[in-house]
Amino acid sequence: MTEDINKKLMQEAEKAKGNAYVPYSNFAVGAALITESGDIYTGCNVESASYGATNCAERTAIFKAVSDGHRKIKKIAIVSDLDETYPCGICRQVIAEFSDDVEIIIGNAGSYKVLTLDDLFPHSFTKKDLESIEGK
Ligand code: THU
Repeated sequence: MTEDINKKLMQEAEKAKGNAYVPYSNFAVGAALITESGDIYTGCNVESASYGATNCAERTAIFKAVSDGHRKIKKIAIVSDLDETYPCGICRQVIAEFSDDVEIIIGNAGSYKVLTLDDLFPHSFTKKDLESIEGK
């Protein structure tokens, strides 16, 4: 069951990769996530002539979900044309914003591994830090 969902997310991420707009890097990425309510959202990277305006696949998927009212991600799968692609630092921060115990699925439809955010983003600064300043 869990395996089926992971595989499905990998396949959806692979499909989303097909829409990547990558005229500058030629590095296509796809992401697919499932929210705590069971909805699936996908995203691809979208580049810009002003390189800094580029949006990664992970954040595209997350922002689509959040803008539809979702606030918690349970799993997010990431694929590129490499065997493994890990989320960039900014995406790790955004994943942390919208998750508690998220699984991050790295690889491709044939072979993938499941990691926690703590594996990828230990000692992170989060809203918990902002809450703990209250009353100090
Ligand atoms: N990129 C992603 O979309 N996600 C990642 O996890 C790594 C990097 C994109 C950003 C840019 O469009 C291209 O890959 C090269 O950095």
